[in-house]
Amino acid sequence: MNSTKSALKRKSQKVMQEFSKYLMPTYSRIPIVIDRGEGTRVWDREGKSYLDFISGIGVMAAGYSHPDICKVIKEECHRLIHCSNLYHVEAQVELAKKLCQLSFADKAFFCNSGAEANETAIKLARKFGYEKGAYEIVAMENSFHGRTLATIGLTGEEKYRKHFAPFPPGFKFTSFNNLNELEKNITPRTCAVIMEPIQGEGGICEATPSFIEGVRNICTEKEILLIFDEVQCGLGRTGKWFAYEHYNVEPDVMTLAKPLAAGLPIGACLAKKNIADIFSPGDHASTFGGGHLVCSVALKFLEIMEKQDLVGEVEKRGIYFKEKLHLLKEKFSFVREIRGKGLMLGLELDFEGKPVVDIAREKGLLINVTRGKTVRFLPPYIVSEGDIDEATSILKDALKDAIKEVRD
Ligand SMILES: Cc1ncc(COP(=O)(O)O)c(C=O)c1O
Repeated sequence: MNSTKSALKRKSQKVMQEFSKYLMPTYSRIPIVIDRGEGTRVWDREGKSYLDFISGIGVMAAGYSHPDICKVIKEECHRLIHCSNLYHVEAQVELAKKLCQLSFADKAFFCNSGAEANETAIKLARKFGYEKGAYEIVAMENSFHGRTLATIGLTGEEKYRKHFAPFPPGFKFTSFNNLNELEKNITPRTCAVIMEPIQGEGGICEATPSFIEGVRNICTEKEILLIFDEVQCGLGRTGKWFAYEHYNVEPDVMTLAKPLAAGLPIGACLAKKNIADIFSPGDHASTFGGGHLVCSVALKFLEIMEKQDLVGEVEKRGIYFKEKLHLLKEKFSFVREIRGKGLMLGLELDFEGKPVVDIAREKGLLINVTRGKTVRFLPPYIVSEGDIDEATSILKDALKDAIKEVRD
């Protein structure tokens, strides 16, 4: 190893050691230090490059260092970074208008993360049901809605909840894709049902059309809100602007986050007018939410989506990628199932997927695992067929090596 290389390795190791000294141990981080990114690739501090098929967990949809995103950040930061919601901010209303034009919604509220967007939806649902004394929210088993106390209270997965009870009361769980059970869980005290049309952290599990249509009918009939958490599956990820468009339904409320501001923190809760207007001044707020810079970047991201037809690209690339994954399934009997839509795909194994992730990384591909056995792919929307070929070739080798490790 030459001296520059070993100096970089030492630097990288020092950074990682200092993480354990200075940061709360909330993440089991992968042992690389990411230094920069461009397009569909990132480089670590030692100069090794990786094809990134997880893209900041579904955030870097337009790719790294998109020139238009970098330009808008540079220009707008000189104009105004932030000034609070004491005042009107033009970029905020432009972003709200754009999201409403793209979706079923009439009004928006901006915050800083997916969890906060869901907190907004929870509060809106609670105020919606207040006069009737309806406060219960029914969520799905296997779901994920964030890490605040209320949103883990609504997350149907024990590993996130353990150690943190008690949660705010009034949250109930029902089996995903089981309409009879859902119906039994609705009472006169129910104000809303919340669900991800495609569960992300839950292992890329799609709602069946009959379930989602049935939920919509029940909510309409019982006059309760249907909230779609599209934090992971929304904004083009599944090959439509919003995942609900794959189904013959619209929600009353929808939450968004991840890719919306191309890597800057943002969350949005969208709703139909009659529901949005339940909030009055003082009911909800966020110091940073909807700031000028972040909204300007989000507007640019949506412009890029339209200009580069990224929704259409996701649809095409998703079909291509899924076909490649099916070929792997045919080849390896330990691949149980391929799931998902667009570029939100999962490959379920019959063993724990961590070795696959580790070996793929060594070979230059970043992916991750959800629910232990599902290898998850959330590549940037700008992936080429060449990137997909490269990723599937690395994945094939990683699967071959991992099965040897697991079975030996
Ligand atoms: C469906 C869903 N909802 C909510 C969240 C929470 O978002 P955030 O981490 O931005 O709070 C996530 C994060 O992965 C998610 O996938």
